[in-house]
Amino acid sequence: MARKIAAGNWKMNGLKADLAEIDSLAAAIADIESRPEVLICPPFTLLPLMHERAAGTGIAVGGQDCHPEPSGAHTGDIAAEMLADAGASHVILGHSERRSDHAEDDALVAAKARAAWRAELVAIICVGESEAERDAGRTLEVIGRQLAGSVPQGARPENTVIAYEPVWAIGTGRTPTTAEIAEVHAFMRERLVAAHGAAAADIPLLYGGSVKPGNAAEIFAVADVDGGLVGGASLRAADFVPIVAALAAS
Ligand code: 13P
Repeated sequence: MARKIAAGNWKMNGLKADLAEIDSLAAAIADIESRPEVLICPPFTLLPLMHERAAGTGIAVGGQDCHPEPSGAHTGDIAAEMLADAGASHVILGHSERRSDHAEDDALVAAKARAAWRAELVAIICVGESEAERDAGRTLEVIGRQLAGSVPQGARPENTVIAYEPVWAIGTGRTPTTAEIAEVHAFMRERLVAAHGAAAADIPLLYGGSVKPGNAAEIFAVADVDGGLVGGASLRAADFVPIVAALAAS
């Protein structure tokens, strides 16, 4: 069985005043039985502060991107080693917003995943089809290609998490049906085992895209869904706590 993970992606949101959400989150999840792993990925500016604030709470912190190189002349970029130095244990890679805003392709995402492993971070590698690709019946082809290109050899449950985030479900309030999520997650499990061996069956598979308190239980009940990568509903503890609770109960 893969471990369960409730991960929050704050994207380009959050100022120092918002760190108080971590206190509320920590207090509320302390009582949750069989608590899953809980991770928040704030913007780089808050990472060390959030790491300090979360000390002793069991809440992990992660980055939202990293550069493939460990250091050098790359203005504005952040190395995986810097994330680790700031207290991160995870890093989100290949999010569709990075793929579209910064033209990241599968080969670059794979290079970033190797960098994450080099710095002993867990790589959360994102894949997902566009609406046009789904409408054209190409969802599994796209996911298969992204997995093959973005997940390097050496992926294991200890160093890799995969997030399935349909591009059209992100920030839209729309989600695939549970049957559609089940189909993609079963396919990802099968492809990961085929490419990386039997141990890859325990790589956690997260669903992301408009996960909310109201739909979390239904989504987490889907076979092969080991947790969620949550955007908007991770920004406030009041929304994220019931999502963590739904995962614990799943
Ligand atoms: P929303 O939960 O806001 O749809 O965002 C999902 C996402 O992109 C998480 O990485």
